[in-house]
Amino acid sequence: MSRVYQPSDHVVEKSRLSSFDKYKEMHKKSLEDPETFWSEIANEFHWQTPYQPGNFLSYNFDVNKGDIFVKWLEGSVTNICFNLLDRNVRNGHGEKIAYYWEGNHPDDYSRITYRKLMDLVCQFANALRDSGVGKGDRVSIYMPMILETVVCMLACARIGAVHSIVFAGFSSDSLAERLSDCKAKVLVTADGAWRGEKLLILKNVCDEALEKAKTKYNHSVDLCIVVAHLNRVTACGKLPDDVKTLYKWHDRDIWWHDLVEGQSNICPPEWMDAEDPLFMLYTSGSTGKPKGVLHTTAGYLLYATATFRYVFDYQEKDIYWCTADVGWITGHTYVVYAPLANAATSVMFEGTPFFPDNDRYWSLVDKYNVTQFYTAPTAIRALTKFGDDYVKRHNMKSLRVLGSVGEPINPEAWLWYYNLVGSGRCSIVDTFWQTETGGHVLTSLPGATPMKPGAAGFPFFGVEPTLLDENGKVIEGPGEGYLVFSRPWPGIMRTLFGDHERYQKVYFSKFPGYYCTGDGARRDEDGFLWVTGRIDDMLNVSGHLMSTSEVESVLTEEPRVSEAAVVSKPHPIKGESLYCFVSLNDGAKFDASLVDALKKLVRSRIGAFAAPDVIQYAPGLPKTRSGKIMRRILRKVALGDTDIGDTSTLADPAVVDDLFKNRPK
Ligand code: WTA
Repeated sequence: MSRVYQPSDHVVEKSRLSSFDKYKEMHKKSLEDPETFWSEIANEFHWQTPYQPGNFLSYNFDVNKGDIFVKWLEGSVTNICFNLLDRNVRNGHGEKIAYYWEGNHPDDYSRITYRKLMDLVCQFANALRDSGVGKGDRVSIYMPMILETVVCMLACARIGAVHSIVFAGFSSDSLAERLSDCKAKVLVTADGAWRGEKLLILKNVCDEALEKAKTKYNHSVDLCIVVAHLNRVTACGKLPDDVKTLYKWHDRDIWWHDLVEGQSNICPPEWMDAEDPLFMLYTSGSTGKPKGVLHTTAGYLLYATATFRYVFDYQEKDIYWCTADVGWITGHTYVVYAPLANAATSVMFEGTPFFPDNDRYWSLVDKYNVTQFYTAPTAIRALTKFGDDYVKRHNMKSLRVLGSVGEPINPEAWLWYYNLVGSGRCSIVDTFWQTETGGHVLTSLPGATPMKPGAAGFPFFGVEPTLLDENGKVIEGPGEGYLVFSRPWPGIMRTLFGDHERYQKVYFSKFPGYYCTGDGARRDEDGFLWVTGRIDDMLNVSGHLMSTSEVESVLTEEPRVSEAAVVSKPHPIKGESLYCFVSLNDGAKFDASLVDALKKLVRSRIGAFAAPDVIQYAPGLPKTRSGKIMRRILRKVALGDTDIGDTSTLADPAVVDDLFKNRPK
């Protein structure tokens, strides 16, 4: 049985929830009377029209009873941007720092107050409005971790436009698909950015994507707004004398600074209904096309606010830092919306943990006296391998809460984080959630809940997790099964953009009456929940979720490949890695050049983070008689584990021997 860690005095003394009993009591209340619980938070915000009692929550989670829907605070009217900026300025936080921005190079840093942020957002919002962008229009964003990215998101929220951020590590193919799927009116990007010593010319990826959107999907974007970033930061490698030679300029392109010039810093917000869309964000689906997860206004605001406040136990003078890229949901909720809703001061970091040296994170914790540090297990594992000295060089006594997100954290990494980074006196919050959930749904709470290394812990307020067996039977007490939720919390997604059918099918059809996460979980004797990983055909590489079929379809684009099967193989740093099997067409030869070509293809179609670790030749694939690939067996081959269990359903058992023989040395 794993050891239980109680929150230290260092944490408990300050925390707003200082015992497990208090947590349990509040959790119970949040389920029994959601209206009282959430309206307390709602009352902190500005409502142009407040909600009408009786309309607090309505939903249907049961596909057999009709369409799935979730509505919180229906009838109320507000604007998130107004609440994050104007309201905070009015409450006396105008001169408070909203962000300390730290660039890729340590010489590049700046800061921005709430008032200044409001001014910039209003100017850019006016510029967008003048460019014809209005309520409901989609604005795609392909940006590095710079303040303009936040400005752009909030400007969209101010005028009711729906932002659709595409992580700036996606390839032009992926960007093109996402631009056209949401029918983006505008694309916002930067000329480029440094990541460590690597120069990324984002503008070129955008140009390619815009071209492909037109030719492949027949969707044209008439305006591309470009932040001139490269010339204002320290070069970390070679640059031409004139950076403008790095990319081409088109009629549709305009510099951000030219567009905002002369714009007023006063911009009346667009008043939005509670259930009007706020943003969409694509996430991988287990079949082909990415899913445009859609979040709406009021519920998301309440949920982001509450989770941030309790999970990070943020207090007035704290300095909070989430290292996630704004291109992922963690960046949306916990770099932008939640901290600003709480009038928090955050660090926003453009660079990597390894540049200029492997202690960049720790030096920044000391530079800004960070109190809450939120990162991913893959980063922690990557940093452990450089040894303890990099950490020990730094004081880091300001830290109180350490967060982890994106994948299960292995106990070894947890202990390193706890003992070394947190000096054994910080609480670790292992936050389980998804793009779809909008905010944390399972987690520990600093000061309140005990911790076990590797366990996500307990449900957040308003969340009721259930474990089901294969037949949909509820597992009470200790056990392992499908992790589902039996009722909506305010932050849950409302639909998939343009495809409500798919939303119902993917998340609600397997177990009618429940939202199905696609993850498995175990409840132990003490009631701790342990997320055991995906149970569908998805894998999680360095916290990036992708589907095996997405990669398989790219591999089979190569004319020499007849069939491909991809499985996940455990990886010491990335958590999981891609192990690919390919069968070839007659006459094709399996050699290093094919492997190279396939790896390149995946990088260009999806992005560098999806590059396979291993590509193995498979003369045949293990299939059932009905032709379904038996991935369970392929996972064993990937591991080199010959104990493959029951093979009675295999159409041709001989292929398995061949696969073991063909494992790359
Ligand atoms: C996984 C990221 C275990 C899980 C916020 C989920 C986790 C998927 C954890 C969502 C955690 C995320 N413990 N697994 N603390 N956090 N996951 O949409 O498989 O990028 O379904 O959202 O990541 O990934 P997504």
